[in-house]
Amino acid sequence: MILLNFLLIAPALLFGYLTEEQMEAFNRDGFLVVPNFVQGEECDNLKAHVEEMLAHFDPSTVKTIFDTTSQIAVTDQYFLESASRIHFFFEKEAFNKVGELIKPKELSINKIGHAMHDLDPVFNRFSRTDSLRQVTMDLGLLNPLLLQSMYIFKQPFIGGEVTCHQDATFVYTNPNTSIGFWIAIEDATLENGCLWAIPGGHLTPLKLRFVLKEGKPTMLTFDNTPWDLKPMIPLEVKKGTLIILHGHLPHMSYANRSPKSRHAYTLHVIDSSSDYPKDNWLTRDPSFPFKGFN
Ligand code: FE2
Repeated sequence: MILLNFLLIAPALLFGYLTEEQMEAFNRDGFLVVPNFVQGEECDNLKAHVEEMLAHFDPSTVKTIFDTTSQIAVTDQYFLESASRIHFFFEKEAFNKVGELIKPKELSINKIGHAMHDLDPVFNRFSRTDSLRQVTMDLGLLNPLLLQSMYIFKQPFIGGEVTCHQDATFVYTNPNTSIGFWIAIEDATLENGCLWAIPGGHLTPLKLRFVLKEGKPTMLTFDNTPWDLKPMIPLEVKKGTLIILHGHLPHMSYANRSPKSRHAYTLHVIDSSSDYPKDNWLTRDPSFPFKGFN
């Protein structure tokens, strides 16, 4: 049980952002919804910055689909290199039968990842705030490392489903110290594909682990029992809300068939005191190490 209990925090360890009730709720449910964590204006600024990034992005330079049902990019190399770069991944349904984009590029991208928090000054500032550092400390990560960032679009009409998973499958440490921060940049509703989660599901041992085996992305299976989705509850939130996700929490989102996008920014943090195995998919050259909040 030590592996699962690492993140079950003693309420006495208060660092200043989360209340005792919020920490108890996180320990009980494996997730916590924190409304108004980011000002609406900051969300708008980040969104405008992303629009600018997309304006400079030439889609002909890459044709990589992020298949949200298998969670594996079609082009392995481009995906693996994104650990230390800013790469663009298309929605699966963005192309016609002959491989041409059906819609404008800004309505075709599934996500951007995975090193914006280190490479882009705007994302760096958005990620390394005092509030987020305090929350991380409250959660017991005293030596945090910011591993990966994603800007997720959940595009109107074609935003793909993200099947039920545990984030520690992709951000693995031993013992588990993986925490996901999910910030709504736009309102997330049932209509446009909000998150769903199983309260208390974080007590489930890790079922899958995504590793590099002889340089190839490979999924290791520890438990192939399908998730029981009946206990899932929707997490409809307003823009600016932070949702904190325990690394073992089962969560998902349905496809977006509505005319509204559902932008979100996610950041995954671990504690450097836990073991980060060399075969984790997310690896960087020693010249570009993972960093904390400073
Ligand atoms: Fe996730």
